[in-house]
Formats: sequence, C-alpha cells, structure tokens
Amino acid sequence: MDQAAKRATWNQRYAIDDYIFGKEPSDILVRHQHILRPGETALAIADGEGRNATYLAELGMQVTSFDFSETAIAKAKMLNAERGVSVNILQSDIESWAWTPNTYDAVIGIFFQFLDPVARSVVFAGMAETLKPGGCVFLRGYTPLQLEYKTGGPSEVENLYTPDLLRAAFPGFELIHLSDQITMLNEGPRHKGMSAFVDFIARKPT
Ligand SMILES: C[S@@+](CC[C@H](N)C(=O)[O-])C[C@H]1O[C@@H](n2cnc3c(N)ncnc32)[C@H](O)[C@@H]1O
Repeated sequence: MDQAAKRATWNQRYAIDDYIFGKEPSDILVRHQHILRPGETALAIADGEGRNATYLAELGMQVTSFDFSETAIAKAKMLNAERGVSVNILQSDIESWAWTPNTYDAVIGIFFQFLDPVARSVVFAGMAETLKPGGCVFLRGYTPLQLEYKTGGPSEVENLYTPDLLRAAFPGFELIHLSDQITMLNEGPRHKGMSAFVDFIARKPT
C-alpha cells in the first residue's frame, strides 16, 4: 500500500464522532508527569486525535505535534479548543519530518508501530537528535505477545518492540523507566482489552 492509501485508511478510521483512542492521555505520561515541566518544550509524534499533546499543553508545556491524517488533526484541534489549550499541530508524514537538533525537552511516541525496522531506526535516531541534552524520550509500544491478544496494533511482528530493542535504540541514554507489561487498556474503541506493551523513558546525555 502506498503512503496516500495508508493515509486514506487512517482518515477513514478517524471519520467518526468518537475519539478512537479516547481523549485521555496515555498513562505513561500521567504516571511520569513529574518529568514533564511547565514551560519546557515537547514534541508528540504521530499523535492522531491529539490526546497526548493536549495533555502536555494542559501541563503548561510548549507543544508541537504532527500526524499525517488531516481528519485526526481536525479532531485534535477540536480537543485543544475543548480544553482551552494551544498546540502547534502540523501535518507531516513521519518519514519527511525534519528532526531539528537539540530542540525539545521531551519527545513522545505512543503506539506508532506502522514502521518496519529500517524506517523505525531512522525515526528513533531522529527522536534522539531532536532532544536537547538532558531531555527525555517517552515510548509506549506493543510487544510480540500482543499478537495473541489482538486488541490493537499491527500484525507485523518485526514492527513490535522488546525492552532490549528499545534500550539498544538509544545508546548512551540514562534509563529512567522500563516496564514490560500485560495490562487492561481502555483507550477508546480501538485500544480496549488485555494488551501486552512496553513503556520506555530515557534521558539523553548532557
Ligand atoms: C495507533 S495510532 C496512535 C495515535 C496516537 N499516538 C495516540 O496514542 O493516540 C497511529 C497514528 O500514526 C499515524 N500515522 C500512521 N502512519 C503515519 C506516517 N507515515 N506519518 C505520520 N503519521 C502516521 C496515524 O494517522 C495514527 O494517528
């Protein structure tokens, strides 16, 4: 499937009134909000309907986010308006995003497992580069066990994460949090039920 067809598929998924991943942020952010400081800068990648970027803005951060789906972005803007916050939301394909060096205090990637290992390693390198020294990367993604639960995520096992894969992707970073879990998720109609995923937070060396 080419990029235009993939974007059309996501636009179609998002074309309902309901927020398909809910309006509440991923709880990796809520549980670790002490690392997310008011006034600091954050980038939320492939942020869909904006639940995570909106939360970061509610914490008082200066937030940029992007996604390639214009339908998702329209809903993200509505969520911002509903919550009275402002986020710099851009439309971009992840593969053409310009990873400006040393720009953000936090870079957030929640369930963006549409990339094969080669494209993913380019994105992980970009996330590392765009963090300021001392900034933190936040990742949540399904593990191969998720293929048994079938409650969300891709079917390509090579797109899924393991703790070792994530540690290796950010060499030299200080590990802040790593958990491999099987937990009940209830994040809108598309992320519901027992789910196997890994959370990873690490700090770029100063
Ligand atoms: C599983 S959803 C997760 C959305 C959001 N991170 C969240 O946690 O609610 C994956 C998102 O990736 C976006 N996406 C897929 N392929 C993309 C690409 N090549 N470039 C940018 N965004 C993409 C989709 O539009 C979708 O919003």
